[in-house]
Amino acid sequence: MNFDNCDLTELKLRNALKNALSKVDNLLLKFSDGFPKSSSCGGVYPSSGNTDWTQCFWTGILWLSYELTKNSKYLYTVTGLMDSFKERIDKRIALHNHDIGFIFILSTLAGYKVTGDSELRQKSLDAAMHLANRFREKGQFIQLTGEADCEDPASYRLIIDCLMNINLLYWAGEETGDAEFTRRAYAHFKSTVNNVIRPDGSTFQNCTFDKTNGDVVKLWNRQGRDDESCWSRGQAWGVLGIPLTYAYMKNEDIIDTYYKVADYFLDNLPEDKIAYWDHCYTSGSEPRDSSASAIAVCGLLQACRTMPIDEAHRAKYMGAAVEIMNSLIDNYSNTSSDSAEGLISHGTYWYGGDLGIDECTIWGDYFYLEAIMRFLNPEWKKYW
Ligand code: GLY
Repeated sequence: MNFDNCDLTELKLRNALKNALSKVDNLLLKFSDGFPKSSSCGGVYPSSGNTDWTQCFWTGILWLSYELTKNSKYLYTVTGLMDSFKERIDKRIALHNHDIGFIFILSTLAGYKVTGDSELRQKSLDAAMHLANRFREKGQFIQLTGEADCEDPASYRLIIDCLMNINLLYWAGEETGDAEFTRRAYAHFKSTVNNVIRPDGSTFQNCTFDKTNGDVVKLWNRQGRDDESCWSRGQAWGVLGIPLTYAYMKNEDIIDTYYKVADYFLDNLPEDKIAYWDHCYTSGSEPRDSSASAIAVCGLLQACRTMPIDEAHRAKYMGAAVEIMNSLIDNYSNTSSDSAEGLISHGTYWYGGDLGIDECTIWGDYFYLEAIMRFLNPEWKKYW
């Protein structure tokens, strides 16, 4: 990658990596055989069992750290943590939701891609099968929560976040040659982009379907400010999720829509380029969500690498990725002398739910490190 004409030098990235790894090494002392919680409390990560959607980000951080350094301490720890994910899929522990994709992509699948371990491949395929079973023909989507016969109509819905989960199905389709995995993933993708993206490129998080006929009954936001606004992390899931589907499907008809989604994210950032928790805020003292900006950097780099976008957009997106990354490094990242345990601070999990507001988030940490990896190694073989 050419870093000429911009102030994101390789030296700066390597220094950012050094600081990030110092935080990873501190977390290793606490979580060598366990997991940090989804977000910190006062900058400190409590421990958690492997029962949420977020434990995988710790293993993802460790796989990345190993790939970036080849230091066996990361490999040793993350390999030990794989047992917990093997047990989770074997016993179906807390897997009645769509997050099976996040959970197994950044644990067993990343492990298979890094080490070639055949058991990790098999567990990833088992997880893909479990996720594929959540596909609902009426509405053509992966159901968010509950079982197919769940009586709660609110469960019969998708959220934009699931653009990340379907990558497990695309991978399984390629790996096994079973086109049904791919059909379900791509049908879900189309149900998402055809419904949640507004004409101006902003997005709803949720789309609820009628269980009897698959019609859309409600478009709404759960983690955003209200149903008219745009939750910034949801938008960022779109900025990254669309080019990830493109990498598998080469669906050129999505490119104009992608411009709108990415441009909306970029056009609604504050001056320092780090998103507020909802895009309705572009200045003032509302909490930020640094994780949204870290996710978006990965998405913009993925788009520039694999999508046939025009030169004007390529220049805009590379420039924006560099600008956001500079701000994350300069203003939001932590060094060994900072008391906050995360790699970056000022994330927000769910403002309306009073969850992890202005804290470190373990996925913000993960995507910050993935962004460093993508800048330093543009040919990096993605886990998604
Ligand atoms: N996927 C849940 C979230 O981004 O908060």
